[in-house]
Amino acid sequence: MNAPTMHTERMANNKKIAIDGPAGSGKSTVARRVAEKLGCLYLDSGAMYRAVTVLAIRHELPAGSPKLLSRVQKCRIEFADNGKIVLLDSEDVTTCIRTPAVNKRVADVAKIPEIRQEIVKHQQRIGAAGSIVAEGRDLTTIVFPDADFKFYLDASVTERARRRLAELRSQNVQTTLAEVEAGIRTRDEKDISREHSPLREAEDAIVVDTTHKTIDEVVDVIVAQVQAR
Ligand code: DC
Repeated sequence: MNAPTMHTERMANNKKIAIDGPAGSGKSTVARRVAEKLGCLYLDSGAMYRAVTVLAIRHELPAGSPKLLSRVQKCRIEFADNGKIVLLDSEDVTTCIRTPAVNKRVADVAKIPEIRQEIVKHQQRIGAAGSIVAEGRDLTTIVFPDADFKFYLDASVTERARRRLAELRSQNVQTTLAEVEAGIRTRDEKDISREHSPLREAEDAIVVDTTHKTIDEVVDVIVAQVQAR
């Protein structure tokens, strides 16, 4: 397959590309590159649940508390530099949202339906502003059920653990493949079995198994699909 050139064709107005998949499927990196290639907005929906988790930690509020919901309703979560920078009430929280404390609590925050409703509304407003590549767990099913293109990225648990291990080692975090794999299995279980907006393949999503593919190969598959229509 020929690699498409950068910024080949800008998409017509308001096209939505939604990408879902489990942790470590490569969807964040892929979605970001697809957005760059097609010249549209990139939305990292997980970053928004992470920003809300920062609020919960700072104000010592339990995930399901009315006080947290009220703060979520009032706060402003914004992206700068096409999704590279995450702002919470104008403060740059790009690094804070990736700390172990947030990793540990974010799934509990993301399972609260009232918080999801607020975040989904916000995501839909962002989507209404123009063409977008949005990734997460419920983008193809709940946030943009009418998306023009839907993809579900997957990979074997072991491959996803290997990718995560490489990332952790590059940050000098000492751990083992078995430990990382166990963590991924637990996260999968939480994402798939939660009551509200669980991770699942939309019926009309194109499933891409990334186990034996490089990031560029996955990007090419998606861009080719989009440009073929
Ligand atoms: O993709 P991530 O690891 O940054 O996601 C952080 C958490 O948010 C994870 O527990 C899954 C959850 N999430 C979600 O429930 N819905 C989304 N659309 C995106 C992420």
